[in-house]
Amino acid sequence: MKDTYRFQHKHILDIEQFSAADISYILDTATSFKEISTRPIKKVPTLRGKTIINFFFEPSTRTRLSFEIAAKRMSADTFNIAASTSSAKKGETLIDTALNLEAMNPDIIIIRHSSSGAAALLTRHVNAAIINAGDGTHEHPSQGLLDMMTVREHKGEIEGLKVAIIGDIAHSRVAHSDIIGFTKMGAEVRVAGPATFMPLYLDSLGARVCSSVEEAVTDADVVMALRIQKERQDDPLIPSLREYAQFYGINRSLLQHARPDVLIMHPGPINRGVEMNPDVADGKGSVILEQVTNGVAVRMALLYLVMGAEGSNVE
Ligand code: CP
Repeated sequence: MKDTYRFQHKHILDIEQFSAADISYILDTATSFKEISTRPIKKVPTLRGKTIINFFFEPSTRTRLSFEIAAKRMSADTFNIAASTSSAKKGETLIDTALNLEAMNPDIIIIRHSSSGAAALLTRHVNAAIINAGDGTHEHPSQGLLDMMTVREHKGEIEGLKVAIIGDIAHSRVAHSDIIGFTKMGAEVRVAGPATFMPLYLDSLGARVCSSVEEAVTDADVVMALRIQKERQDDPLIPSLREYAQFYGINRSLLQHARPDVLIMHPGPINRGVEMNPDVADGKGSVILEQVTNGVAVRMALLYLVMGAEGSNVE
């Protein structure tokens, strides 16, 4: 495939935009970059002279830092701007802010925003490549890719796997990217959670909606728990966290239903004892910190690919 395949995406807005071939190519590229982060000198000249702006309107630990680390490991110049310390606080609109960033000639703008579609909106106003680092409840494509990379590393291939995603599906952009991505790659995706967290469109994304967590995790190769996205809910949609933990929290007893070699995943941040018990998060089969490690490699790959660096040499 590599002889004829060309990555043809200027912007990374969602997993929906990718074919299975695109996803495989991104994961292959990320895999080839992963080793750079283990070297004594963790730097290659590939993106030297490129300017990358991290523009985050919502809190982030993993995504913001790993995009910055990824850019620096590729020798790009990186700049961070947070909504809380930007002129957005003084009433400047998103488009005006983007036009002002554009006036400084960045090559890539990475944006996280509470509004679904914010990243796509920027593509209509600026020339820089736009990477969506999470937009509202829509998608979080780099998280979906790092999740697929982690599963592929452990299982060899994604096709044919049973992936159970548990929790707040309705408000989770990670869930949307994972459902779309794993389904495109040939996995069976099952979802379960409180009815108030289960949107009606899940069937159309290709997910199997299960009536219980036990049903979702039975014979599962992967079990992923999601954080309850309280910041996207005006009113509480569950009676209490204690009840949620009892009926939907991932614990060892529940995992008896899954395959013995089940992978345990969580995009982070974890609310320990709510969506997942600590002995599960830290125990056998957990790949939660490997997801974070792979996040750097996936983001290196995305920066490289949107810069059209096909044919460049990584030294
Ligand atoms: N998984 C994820 O998006 O984590 P952060 O919110 O810390 O970036």
